[in-house]
Amino acid sequence: MIYPVVLYGSPMLRKVSKEIDKNHKDLDKLIKDMFETMEVSEGVGLAAPQIGKSLRLFVIDTTPMAEDDPSLEGFRKAFINPTIIEESGTPWKFVEGCLSLPEIREEVERPSVVKIQYYDENFDFHEETYDGIKARVIQHEYDHLEGRLLIDNVSALRRKLLKGKLSNIIKGKFDVGYKTKIIK
Ligand code: CO
Repeated sequence: MIYPVVLYGSPMLRKVSKEIDKNHKDLDKLIKDMFETMEVSEGVGLAAPQIGKSLRLFVIDTTPMAEDDPSLEGFRKAFINPTIIEESGTPWKFVEGCLSLPEIREEVERPSVVKIQYYDENFDFHEETYDGIKARVIQHEYDHLEGRLLIDNVSALRRKLLKGKLSNIIKGKFDVGYKTKIIK
């Protein structure tokens, strides 16, 4: 099932998401639906709040970015109840987009290395360290679980310049190839 993507302007994107119970009903189906929704929306990451579920879960597939970096081929994972336990490395800038922020692309600075603990779709525990684009996508998706958006990480001046685009999102004035909605 493909979900509409929940957009900026929806209060739920600003909430801290809740932990998922091991026996969560139809978790496999939810994860499958999130991968599907991400793929048709041409995203490389999608967090549960973006489909209207305030749960600590995100999915990633960086394969569409593998043309520039072959190591991104097949990096396809679900992260359940993740915790970033350390961010390190030299901060670097990268232009990010977000399915919940149509037509916005902004340079965001983040630390280059991330150590994360999470459960996979079989509820097996992992602790892993990532850098580069993989770390970047993880940090972006993790922010969604904490109620943060990429626009929180840009300068006050950039945010001011984004005001028009943000109000256009709320007014529905944008053009994307996937279904969207605002949940009031
Ligand atoms: Co996003």
